[in-house]
Amino acid sequence: MAGESKITLSVIKADVGGFVGHTNVHPDLIDTAKERLHNAKEKGQIIDYHVLRCGDDIELIMTHDRGCDNSEIHGLAWNIFSACTAVAKELKLYGAGQDLLKDAFSGTVKGMGPGVAEMEFVERKSEPVIIFMADKTSSGAWNLPLYKIYADPFNTAGLVIDPRMIDGFSFRIIDVKEGKAITLKCPAEAYYTLSLIGTTSRYMISSVYRNADNDVAAVVSTQKLSLIAGRYVGKDDPVAVMRCQSGLPAVGEVLEAFTLPHLVEGWMRGSHTGPLMPVPFYEANPSRFDGPPRVIAAGFQIANGRLIGPHDMFDDPGFDSARKLAGRVSDYMRRHGPFQPHRLPEEAMEYTTLPEVLKVLKDRFEDA
Ligand code: F6R
Ligand code: MG
Ligand code: MG
Repeated sequence: MAGESKITLSVIKADVGGFVGHTNVHPDLIDTAKERLHNAKEKGQIIDYHVLRCGDDIELIMTHDRGCDNSEIHGLAWNIFSACTAVAKELKLYGAGQDLLKDAFSGTVKGMGPGVAEMEFVERKSEPVIIFMADKTSSGAWNLPLYKIYADPFNTAGLVIDPRMIDGFSFRIIDVKEGKAITLKCPAEAYYTLSLIGTTSRYMISSVYRNADNDVAAVVSTQKLSLIAGRYVGKDDPVAVMRCQSGLPAVGEVLEAFTLPHLVEGWMRGSHTGPLMPVPFYEANPSRFDGPPRVIAAGFQIANGRLIGPHDMFDDPGFDSARKLAGRVSDYMRRHGPFQPHRLPEEAMEYTTLPEVLKVLKDRFEDA
């Protein structure tokens, strides 16, 4: 791509039917998505594409030159998910069309169910990016690793060693309950940042910028399915896109943040807490108690909009100890059964029988 022209990287994802249950995506759905994106590429609508999946979520990875929130690109994704839904219905896959919450497309997939993470940038001399994709969790799951990557020198050596990073990074944070957003500058406003983003179910980091030049470093999908639908429709199963190297955190610094399988919301029925396990692509099949929550990392070099990759970044014995720890934490958490903090607090559960139980027991409560 010549001169200063920008490319757009769009990752649009949805669960439109699980195989088996909520574990995986049937290959016929992946083939359907690939065929349609191939045609879009032939027509020049997009520059390049890849289709991946994490658990029961299909991930459409696309490059193009139409900018973020482009109705043609969003329409393409919507049509692909609709076509995949038709296949899912034919095979009677589980929860066919689950994340398509509206009947007709209206210019953007935002607010319609699918998750979206998009960034527009001038491609550098070399442009390494990592796309993280998670299943059985919500967008707030990225808060902790994002803070570590962009604000914690104990994770990211470059924050103190690389002069291009020493001014730090700014976090855009969305209050999903109020529909408001704020930008906080780190390290100066680190404590304000932490006081918000520790509440992972409400305050979600949506993007990260380098203070020195305001260049975009990371974007996250922050659609909250339960708020859009007003009822339980599954967890967001979010994605995050991070550019790496040359004045941004190195590939290894970005990945390092996932060596702690931190506790996230979303295991079984979207109502339990469990460790986020970093796995290679072929192990992203959450089946134990519908989990534990998974994250995969697809690395690409972008060359004039072409997606060179993916490289399976967690396919490395360097993450074995994190996986083992996630297994041990899973055993420990599961032994709590229906008790908190394994089971989420009432207000964070995706659904609960408590109102009905209270109705039945209402007259039997006495003054204590
Ligand atoms: C979690 C998830 C699953 C389902 C569970 C019950 O995000 O998708 O854990 O909540 O399998 O599913 P239903 O109610 O459809 O039987
Ligand atoms: Mg599902
Ligand atoms: Mg899912």
